[in-house]
Amino acid sequence: MTFIRKTLAAAAACTATLACAAPIKVGLMLPATGTYSALGQAIENGFKLYVAEQGGKIGGREIEYVKVDDESDPSKATDNVNKLIKRDHVDVIVGTVHSGVAMAMAKAAKDSGTLLIVPNAGAEAITGPMCAPNIFRSSFSNWQPGYAMGEVAAKKGYRKVVTITWKYAAGDESVAGFKEAFEKNGGQVVKELTLPFPGVEFQALLTDIAATKPDAVYSFFAGGGAVKFVKDYAAAGLNKTVPLLGAFITDGTLEAQGAAAAGVLTTLHYADGLNTPRDKAFRLAYAKTYKLQPDVYAVQGYDAAQILAIGAKATAGDLSKTAAFAAAVEKARIDSPRGPFTLSKSHNPVQDIYLRQVVGAENQAIGIASKALADPSRGCRQ
Ligand code: BEZ
Repeated sequence: MTFIRKTLAAAAACTATLACAAPIKVGLMLPATGTYSALGQAIENGFKLYVAEQGGKIGGREIEYVKVDDESDPSKATDNVNKLIKRDHVDVIVGTVHSGVAMAMAKAAKDSGTLLIVPNAGAEAITGPMCAPNIFRSSFSNWQPGYAMGEVAAKKGYRKVVTITWKYAAGDESVAGFKEAFEKNGGQVVKELTLPFPGVEFQALLTDIAATKPDAVYSFFAGGGAVKFVKDYAAAGLNKTVPLLGAFITDGTLEAQGAAAAGVLTTLHYADGLNTPRDKAFRLAYAKTYKLQPDVYAVQGYDAAQILAIGAKATAGDLSKTAAFAAAVEKARIDSPRGPFTLSKSHNPVQDIYLRQVVGAENQAIGIASKALADPSRGCRQ
């Protein structure tokens, strides 16, 4: 069939069914309050930007949004996601930021068969033991940036590192990824410091770091908590003596962190200064629409909409056709502002991880820390 005949056939198939004539109901379950609220907003902005670029339609259907503030609170996650599935009967759920909340969402999606696209949370279980044909991630696994930084730190010749993070899945897994690569390459994690999410009482832990005198510190924090951590690290004078490494600690936060973040090295799947035509076009469109510069979270939201569009096109807008949706997404090369990426069998991005350094208000790309890095997806059976 020619391309034009195929497109006409798909459109006819879709308009012939009642379901396809109605809008796609997208359940946006993101944090609108708390330390991750800015991340949720950036994801929503990115998602809506891609939809707007498609003329407001995905798979030939209009889009209708139903929103839930998940507050980054795992104890409310099952109730919140069930509102979207059982009360609102959404066609697809897009969410969320916090790994603990996302794991409850993945369970509900798996049990109900509802399509789920995760636009941030890196919980390894989602593309590990909980992996499923109807669950996709447009972001990363917590292991990926951590592992890449473990290799960077070892190459830099650091031997003794202290880690510091929030005590929940994202922090634990980010540190475990770092430790795996760092210790495989001759380094040693001498102390693992934690505090409860979303706490910001860093003082005692910073005093401990000063007394331990490691070669470097590896950290995972994000959003409002990351702003405070990086500022407190500098206020304690540690930025002059112990290099600070991390993942997410300088994303969407640099204006608030100011000089305290200067020179910080991080690893991530997006960066400023990529200078590709694709990224430049995205950044221009985002800045025009929202009067803001995009960050990694905006890119992940944008790419969640791209994944939805690829699957919806292949199913002529019928999102209940899970196998056809998954088959199309699995063979796609997603044209992301971060650079093109594919999804693994477990539906996690296989992507380049950049090494970035803070210069002024930017996370400048200074190299590729790990090329086409795939999460091991331990425990995924599909
Ligand atoms: C997480 O909980 O998985 C997460 C939250 C913020 C940034 C990155 C990861």
